[in-house]
Amino acid sequence: MKRGKRDFLDLAGWPVADLREVLALATVLKSEKIPGRQPLAGRTLAMIFEKASTRTRVSFEVGMYQLGGQAIFLSRQDTQLGRGEPIEDTARVLSRYVHGIMIRTFSQEDVVRLADYASVPVINGLTDLVHPTQVLADIFTIQERFGSLQGLKIAYVGDGNNMANSWINAALRFGFDLSLACPPGYEPDELILARARREAAGTIELVREPAAAVRGARVINTDVWASMGQEEEAAARRRVFAPYQVNDELLAQAAPGAVVLHCLPAHRGEEISGAVFDRFQELIFTQAENRLHVQKALMAQLMGEE
Ligand code: CP
Ligand code: NVA
Repeated sequence: MKRGKRDFLDLAGWPVADLREVLALATVLKSEKIPGRQPLAGRTLAMIFEKASTRTRVSFEVGMYQLGGQAIFLSRQDTQLGRGEPIEDTARVLSRYVHGIMIRTFSQEDVVRLADYASVPVINGLTDLVHPTQVLADIFTIQERFGSLQGLKIAYVGDGNNMANSWINAALRFGFDLSLACPPGYEPDELILARARREAAGTIELVREPAAAVRGARVINTDVWASMGQEEEAAARRRVFAPYQVNDELLAQAAPGAVVLHCLPAHRGEEISGAVFDRFQELIFTQAENRLHVQKALMAQLMGEE
């Protein structure tokens, strides 16, 4: 993989060969029960959080520690960003201190601007538009479970949000067939969908009926109906999305042996029934664990020595 200053802003921005290289390294890192190598010794990751997080924060922080480096947690209100310091200046200042920046925020444009002005790699830890580290870990989880993505149909049921958009980008790069079921008015990003439909090797379909999306699918994904920042819409969204719950009735329409993934946090009784969550909880928590292994591989690639 080409090294130097390189960013991870969305899955579409990386060639599939490089994504596969990260996944291969993640497999090796996961197999090392006690982390043996420390490619990031003496290096620091700044983590800017403008939204809440459990998994992303802890997995990046622990990952840096295990690779010999350290991470600094920066919340908006505790930094000058919260008092209006431009993101361009923040990028230039942090680049003088740290070796990489991870950011979770609202606008994808802010992440792109941060990356433009930073001289160190920038990793997107979730925006309103995409959540690429999550879906890369999800791909890793599917490969672990099924051996490969070859011939798999993957479904996404629910809100056309950052997870849906990232699944579309993943289909663009990895070439599997993807079917999304979203209610009217809650479709994925038009540009991301149009590009993927133009360029992807597999089929990418957007349907209304959850049953149509899961038919023949071996993997079914869902996500919260109200994402961070949409809390006030939660009640209205519960009404719109009620027919989009991943439950036993829906699973009966999927391929035999189909599995359910969830990026978490989950709202049992909303996007996923309690019974379905419980049945797939081992896989879902492995999926959460895999964030650590995949992000370690990503950071080692982006921030490690040549
Ligand atoms: N899935 C995920 O990104 O979780 P957090 O919001 O807890 O980081
Ligand atoms: N779509 C969710 C994902 C959380 C990991 C959100 O943005 O809140």
